[in-house]
Amino acid sequence: MKRIAVLGAGNMGAALIGGILKVGVADREHIVATVRTAERAEELAAKFGIRVTAGGNPEAAADAEIIVLAVKPGTLPKVLEEIRETLRPSQILLSLAAAVPIALIEKLTGRSMPVFRAMPNIPVVVEEGATAVSANAHCTAEQRAAIESIFRAVGVVVFVEEELMHAVTALSGSGPAYVYMVIEALIAGGLKMGLSREVSTRLAEQTVLGAAKLVRETMLHPAILRDQVITPGGVTISAIHELEKHGLRSMLISAIETATHHSESRTRALLAKFGDS
Ligand SMILES: NC(=O)c1ccc[n+]([C@@H]2O[C@H](COP(=O)([O-])OP(=O)(O)OC[C@H]3O[C@@H](n4cnc5c(N)ncnc54)[C@H](OP(=O)(O)O)[C@@H]3O)[C@@H](O)[C@H]2O)c1
Repeated sequence: MKRIAVLGAGNMGAALIGGILKVGVADREHIVATVRTAERAEELAAKFGIRVTAGGNPEAAADAEIIVLAVKPGTLPKVLEEIRETLRPSQILLSLAAAVPIALIEKLTGRSMPVFRAMPNIPVVVEEGATAVSANAHCTAEQRAAIESIFRAVGVVVFVEEELMHAVTALSGSGPAYVYMVIEALIAGGLKMGLSREVSTRLAEQTVLGAAKLVRETMLHPAILRDQVITPGGVTISAIHELEKHGLRSMLISAIETATHHSESRTRALLAKFGDS
C-alpha cells in the first residue's frame, strides 16, 4: 500500500481519493490532500476522514510515495516550484493537468524521476471513468502497475504514447460533454413527441448506458450492433436516414479533430509561457 499525496483535491482529485478509498488501493492513514481554501479542506477532511490542508504542498509531498498533481494546469508550475526541493527519485509524480507535457514537468522540477501523465474524465466520480496514461523513461513496470490500480479503482485505464494525449483529451477527456448533448437531445425529442420529462430522461439515460454496455460486453463493432436494431422499412432506419442527412458521424469526427488541435495549441501556449523560465 503506497502513501499518496493529492495536491489540489478539487473535482478530479477528490473523485480519485473516493475511488482509492472505496477499492482499498490505500487506506485513510496513507492519503493526504491539499487544497487552496480552509473551507474546502474542512469539507474534504470530514467527507473522507483523511488529513487535508489548505496549502502545505511541500509537507504533503515530502512523505508521499505517489504525488498526484491535481491542480489546474496554470497552477501546476507554482506547485512544482513549491515542492521541487522535497522531491526524491524514489517518488512518483502523477500529473492530471490537461495539456501539460511530461517534458515541462521534468524541466520545472529539474529532477530525474518517474513522471506519469494521466487524462481521466469526469465519470471517475461514479467509478466509470476512462483514463489514458503516459509515462516517462524512469517509470518501472511495478510503478505502472501501481498507477494502473489507482485508475482502475475509478473506471477503465489504458496506456498510450504521450503524443496521443491530445487525441485522448478530445475523445474521452471532453467526450462526456458530447454525450450529455446527445442525452439532452434525446430527452428533448421525447418531450416533443409527448413523453413526460421524467419518462424521457429515464429512457434516454438508460439507452445510452445500455448501448455502451452492449458494445463493451459483446465486443462487436457498433455498426454491427446498429444493424441489428434495423428492420427493413422500419422505424429505426427512417431515423438513421435523418441522422445521416445531418451528418451526425461526420460532425463527431470533426469535433474530435478540432478539439485535438485545440489541445495542441494549449500545450504550445503553456510551453511558451513556462517552458523557457
Ligand atoms: N474535470 C475534468 O473533467 C478533468 C478531466 C481531465 C483532467 N483534468 C485535470 O484535472 C486537474 C484538476 O481539475 P478539476 O476539474 O478537478 O479542477 P478543480 O475542481 O478546480 O480543482 C482544483 C483544486 O486545486 C486546488 N488548488 C488551487 N490552488 C492550489 C494550491 N496552490 N495548492 C493546493 N491546491 C490548490 C483548489 O482548491 P480550492 O477548492 O480550495 O479552490 C481545487 O480544489 C486539472 O489540471 C485538469 O486539467 C480535469
